[in-house]
Amino acid sequence: MTNATFSRETAEDRVIVALDCGMDRALELADMLKGHAKWVKVGMTLFYAEGPAAVKAFKDRGFKVFVDLKLHDIPHQVEGAAKSVVLTGADMLTVHASGGQKMMQAAMDGARAAVESVPGTQMPIVLAVTVLTSMDDQTLASIGVESQAAEQVERLAKLADAAGVGGVVCSPKEAEIMKRVLSADKCIVTPGVRPKGSATGDQARVTTPSQAFENGSTHIVVGRPITQAVDPVAAFDAIVDEIVGA
Ligand code: C5P
Repeated sequence: MTNATFSRETAEDRVIVALDCGMDRALELADMLKGHAKWVKVGMTLFYAEGPAAVKAFKDRGFKVFVDLKLHDIPHQVEGAAKSVVLTGADMLTVHASGGQKMMQAAMDGARAAVESVPGTQMPIVLAVTVLTSMDDQTLASIGVESQAAEQVERLAKLADAAGVGGVVCSPKEAEIMKRVLSADKCIVTPGVRPKGSATGDQARVTTPSQAFENGSTHIVVGRPITQAVDPVAAFDAIVDEIVGA
C-alpha cells in the first residue's frame, strides 16, 4: 500500500497515537485529538497504573484502543491474558513472537474465547512483536541469538504468520522484509517514526511517516512528536497531510 492510495480519512485511521504519559494528560490529549485521531495506544506505563479503566476511558470517547502489553509467558497464561485484554475492549494487542508459535496461537485462542464469551465483542488485531528496535546484533548475541537482527526478524515473522496472528510490530526499516514474508492481509505496525524536523529522542532507526508507508507499513505509531508538541492537534494533522501528500 502506498500513500497515493490514502484518503484523508484512511490516513487518520492509520496513525496510532501513543499516550505514554499519566492518565490526566492522556485524557486531555484524547479530548484534544477527538475528531482527528481514531486510534490511541495504551502501553504498560498507563495500563499498569490505571488498569482496564484506562482502555474504557478512551473507548467511551470513541477511540479504537491498541493495548500494547507485549505478552510473553507459557501458552496457558498468555491465552488467559489475551482473553482478559480483549475483554477490556482492546481493538489491537501485542504478544512477543519470541515466545514461539504455540504461544502466539494461544493468544489467538484467548482472543477468540473472549469474543465467544461476551456477545458484541469484536475480534481484535493480535500483533506479534519481532525483535525490539532497542536491540542490536550485539544485544542479541549477548542473549545467545547468533543471527543478525534482520535475519531474526524474518524468522520470527514467518513464525508469526504460521501462527495466524493478524500482523507484526517492527521498525519501518523492516517493513519491506515483512511485506515479502507475511501473507498479504497482515498488518505491519511501525513505531520509530519521526516527521521531518522533530526530535529523534531515544529512537535510533527512524523514517518519516510517508516513508514508513512507502516501505509497506499499514499503520504507524507516533508518540512524542504529537504528545509533546505545543499544539498536538496541529502535529497530528501535519502528519496526516504528509501521508496524503497534501
Ligand atoms: O514517542 P515515540 O514516538 O518514540 O513512541 C513510540 C511508541 O512505540 C512507544 O509507545 C514505544 O513503546 C512503542 N514502541 C517502540 N519500539 C518498538 C515497539 C514499540 O518505540 N519496537
